[in-house]
Amino acid sequence: MPPSNTELAEPRQTAFCWGVDDAASDALADAGAAEVTPTFPMDAFWADGDGQAGGQADGDGAPEPCFSTRRGALFAGDCMSVLPLLRSETVDTVFADPPFNIGKKYGKRTNDNRADDEYLDWCREWLAECVRVLKPGGALFLYNLPRWNVELGAFIGQQDDMLFRHWIAVEMGACMPIAGRLHPSHYSLLYYTKGKPKTFRRVRTPIALCRHCGGDIKDYGGHRNKLNPKGITLKDVWTDVPPVRHAKYKSGDRKANALSTKLLERVVEISTEPGDVVLDPFGGSGTTFAVCEAKDRRWIGMELDFADVVADRLRSGDLAHHKNTDVVDLPE
Ligand SMILES: C[S@@+](CC[C@H](N)C(=O)[O-])C[C@H]1O[C@@H](n2cnc3c(N)ncnc32)[C@H](O)[C@@H]1O
Repeated sequence: MPPSNTELAEPRQTAFCWGVDDAASDALADAGAAEVTPTFPMDAFWADGDGQAGGQADGDGAPEPCFSTRRGALFAGDCMSVLPLLRSETVDTVFADPPFNIGKKYGKRTNDNRADDEYLDWCREWLAECVRVLKPGGALFLYNLPRWNVELGAFIGQQDDMLFRHWIAVEMGACMPIAGRLHPSHYSLLYYTKGKPKTFRRVRTPIALCRHCGGDIKDYGGHRNKLNPKGITLKDVWTDVPPVRHAKYKSGDRKANALSTKLLERVVEISTEPGDVVLDPFGGSGTTFAVCEAKDRRWIGMELDFADVVADRLRSGDLAHHKNTDVVDLPE
């Protein structure tokens, strides 16, 4: 039976199952626990020296995740201490939201104030690894300022079979005008695939209604009756992604910027099927991983300064999701 259309609205607050060691696992089983959840099987993702499976799979020299669930594993530290150890072509989607090199304060170890060339060279290093670990047909999303994504998009386009799909403009909330420039109003979300996309799921957004009178906001050039009642095909300009400001959505222990779950839900729903693997090298406060847990995707993540915060949030389920009325248009 083909799956029916999937509502994205109101994702459930997932009860996370974190890794249990063998003794604890046995104790739970002895106590008659219904299900003892295994940790995420990272062995399948470690490479040997040739980028093939095997070498690290026995655990020799492979880094230990600081936290894992049955769906995912989180590594504390520099993403470049883990990415090169991953086996080639094992990941379905990469989402990366690196520091933007604008002098922002993250944790102690993050340098967000590099010379332009140094910053771009650093980005190219981890991007090359992200491309390498992507499966054929897999998707790469890169969230950054337009000025950096112009350069980094050109670089990605020169790697392997990488194909440009979209420059998605994500409208930003409050941003001050800059003298002598247009008022910057969007972030860039680049979307590439390694060759022809293996997964592209059409997301629809509801037909916009006036919040006062309930009538249509647009006239659709007289073609209103031809619109799909499930909604409009998602555009490459996103004006409806809320900022993460309210205390309900923010981590109390990590004040630096975080993305809305709505943005990650789109990335995940467009480019993956349940069970697929999403990699995020810059975990931040854990948005990507919480969305993957809620949507039954597997995940691998790294975070330099706040891995403990991410682990706490996932463990406690303390990551509220923004309202999302998108619909995934699956075949009937
Ligand atoms: C822009 S934030 C990501 C926010 C994240 N998307 C979220 O929604 O919470 C970038 C994160 O990258 C982390 N970071 C910086 N350099 C890193 C590195 N070399 N490896 C792993 N993480 C790094 C920072 O600590 C920061 O939390």
